[in-house]
Amino acid sequence: MSVNGYPRVAVLFVAAVCYHRNMTKSKLQQLRMLEQQIIRQDTCPQLRQQATQLVMGSGSVEAAYVFIGEAPGKQEDLQGKPFIGAAGKFLDEMLAAAGMNREDVYITNIVKYRPPNNRDPLPAEKQAFWPFLLRELAIIQPQAIVTLGRHSMEYFLPGASISEVHGQPQRVMVGDHQLTIVPLYHPAAALYNGSLRQTLMDDFTHLPAQLAPFNA
Ligand code: URA
Repeated sequence: MSVNGYPRVAVLFVAAVCYHRNMTKSKLQQLRMLEQQIIRQDTCPQLRQQATQLVMGSGSVEAAYVFIGEAPGKQEDLQGKPFIGAAGKFLDEMLAAAGMNREDVYITNIVKYRPPNNRDPLPAEKQAFWPFLLRELAIIQPQAIVTLGRHSMEYFLPGASISEVHGQPQRVMVGDHQLTIVPLYHPAAALYNGSLRQTLMDDFTHLPAQLAPFNA
């Protein structure tokens, strides 16, 4: 028996080796491959041309919780890491209120190039990066996902209003996977708004108790 002229047993052997190699790639290697793929496919060339670099996620690849913001800002674009500007410093404070720090969680954005002048990402830009975000999540395999702001929330909870659902875990199907999503306000929105700031602080403080039932 042969496949395209090659003995069937040889074809099966090569397929098994390839499959095994893929399965044994570390999460870091898989994330690196994902990054290369975003670059190779020239995802969102208009954003890429104006940005300094692609900003992938950072933190622990073994994290139980993934935090997803909207898109890199100026500092993130310059330094190549998510949430390191003013909103990122505020996020660090919020994480501390939840007894977490950024090395223990994984932080990323839905859109991975900085939109010019920090404008909101366009629907087409979010759509272009969405499949890559799903792949990123499939690599990390977190127990729960915390969305920061409406841009990442709307993809997991279409039609939801953040003022109604913030801080409350939701179980949703994304493709074939059931995921736990906790929608929170974006730190940048709460940074200079006293009452939103307190709301976000309260939501972060309650996060460990909210997530406990979903811990494996
Ligand atoms: N805001 C975001 O949504 N992401 C960042 O990385 C920085 C600011």
